[in-house]
Amino acid sequence: MVVGPGSASVNVQIREATLADAEPIWQLHNRSILALCADDYSPAQLADWVAHSTLARQQTRLQQHRVFVAEQEGQLIGFVRWNPATNELCSLFVDPDFVRQGVATALMDTACQDARACGVTEFWLDASLTAVPFYQATGWQPGKPMTHHGLACLRMTKQLG
Ligand SMILES: CC(C)(COP(=O)(O)OP(=O)(O)OC[C@H]1O[C@@H](n2cnc3c(N)ncnc32)[C@H](O)[C@@H]1OP(=O)(O)O)[C@@H](O)C(=O)NCCC(=O)NCCS
Repeated sequence: MVVGPGSASVNVQIREATLADAEPIWQLHNRSILALCADDYSPAQLADWVAHSTLARQQTRLQQHRVFVAEQEGQLIGFVRWNPATNELCSLFVDPDFVRQGVATALMDTACQDARACGVTEFWLDASLTAVPFYQATGWQPGKPMTHHGLACLRMTKQLG
């Protein structure tokens, strides 16, 4: 699958994650937070956010949730995770070197398709302030301001029907 605008396009393969992806997912998650969210949260908030995300937690989530990864030439460049028990889109992160090339859109489309196949009609999430413009651009409706582990965020919903 080729995603992204014109010359910035990137050849992306999307597949369901396995337990072997836990460590690269964990590393990408933390790298993405530190590089991309620094304009929206303080250094202390970023440090807490990263500290809260442990490898063991990623492994547990891989077993309990639906997770898909995006790869380019075998390198992990993004992932998405949703929880079939709550219909929450829990995580969507892209490698800082691959942003604005349609990778998150392709991952989100995959998660939406997967959820639809499971009979889900609406997704919800607590969007980081950093990600709100992305979600607004991709059809999510804004709701209430929330806090998630002490971080300001915005509840958003998306109809999947
Ligand atoms: C938010 C994030 C997932 C977007 O990933 P991405 O691969 O760059 O997104 P896409 O390329 O698919 O963007 C699609 C559209 O969303 C909008 N968009 C994406 N990032 C944006 C930004 N930083 N500012 C404004 N609009 C943005 C644009 O309209 C974009 O289309 P365009 O590039 O043609 O203008 C990525 O920036 C990221 O990982 N951020 C840090 C982690 C984070 O906060 N994750 C969400 C946790 S809830």
